[in-house]
Amino acid sequence: MGVIQDGKISLERLQIQAERPALFQYGDQEIWTDEHISKRMLEAHLDPDINAASRKHEMIVKSCGWIVSELDLKEGSKVVDLGCGPGLYCEEFARLGLDVTGVDFSKRSIKYAMDQSSSSIEYIHGDYLTVDLGDKYDAAFLIYYDFDVLSDSDRNELLSRVYSIIKDDGYFVLDVLTPNHKDSGHETMEWSINPNGGFWSPKGYLELFKMYYYPEDQVKLDQNVIIDEDGKTRTYRIWHRLYTLKQITKLLKNHGFVVEGFYEDLKGTPYERDSGSIGLIARKI
Ligand SMILES: C[S@@+](CC[C@H](N)C(=O)[O-])C[C@H]1O[C@@H](n2cnc3c(N)ncnc32)[C@H](O)[C@@H]1O
Repeated sequence: MGVIQDGKISLERLQIQAERPALFQYGDQEIWTDEHISKRMLEAHLDPDINAASRKHEMIVKSCGWIVSELDLKEGSKVVDLGCGPGLYCEEFARLGLDVTGVDFSKRSIKYAMDQSSSSIEYIHGDYLTVDLGDKYDAAFLIYYDFDVLSDSDRNELLSRVYSIIKDDGYFVLDVLTPNHKDSGHETMEWSINPNGGFWSPKGYLELFKMYYYPEDQVKLDQNVIIDEDGKTRTYRIWHRLYTLKQITKLLKNHGFVVEGFYEDLKGTPYERDSGSIGLIARKI
């Protein structure tokens, strides 16, 4: 959609962009697979010192070591990392002796992962909701709150896929945000002018950011509306459903998993009642 009509800025069209979208209504653009954004995203993944597209690399190393020991995974255990990005976890799991498959639909990230890989990791370029993932895994991982971003139907599809690709007694390891997360319960707005381009586009643009909160559903939305110099707009949305421990435990149970361990994160920090996140070790039953 454009916001210029008959040579003027159309405030009506601009207002439409600012309307609160229906729950899990996706934007008109995909963040992870965009040619320009994925370049910026890869730079963010590879910065070892920031929690952005990936966590700080020190945390990734700790997390992989903790998961391997918590699940008692042995040399040669078969694992799959769903949404593996440029393979930071895959490389560490492989270094720890596991037989690793990584799946991601960002061509740029998967290409980077394949080019860098010094071990026998299998990287699959594709959507983990539809691509053939193989089977008989000892464990499947979905790390960095990627479970939260799925609509209810995509989430259910993912859970049944994970159930079918892991062995009996296999593990599903994931992390989610809770309603105690610092971004929950309020809304914020920001804008910025980027005449020389930036994260969202190589050309100049105006960025209108709004974080929406849907209290009844405990869902938050990060929405970026990007308006270029011709008045064309692009809308990017990242949804997060926030789960209490009780809700996520029940949901996993309904899909054939029992929660065997819960922590504040995936490196074993004890879970407290007011934790803003939960790291879960679930087992197929
Ligand atoms: C927040 S990043 C986390 C990457 C990685 N787990 C990490 O922590 O370093 C989310 C990743 O999931 C990928 N992704 C999101 N939805 C996906 C889908 N449906 N199928 C495959 N990959 C997906 C994105 O391309 C991105 O690389």
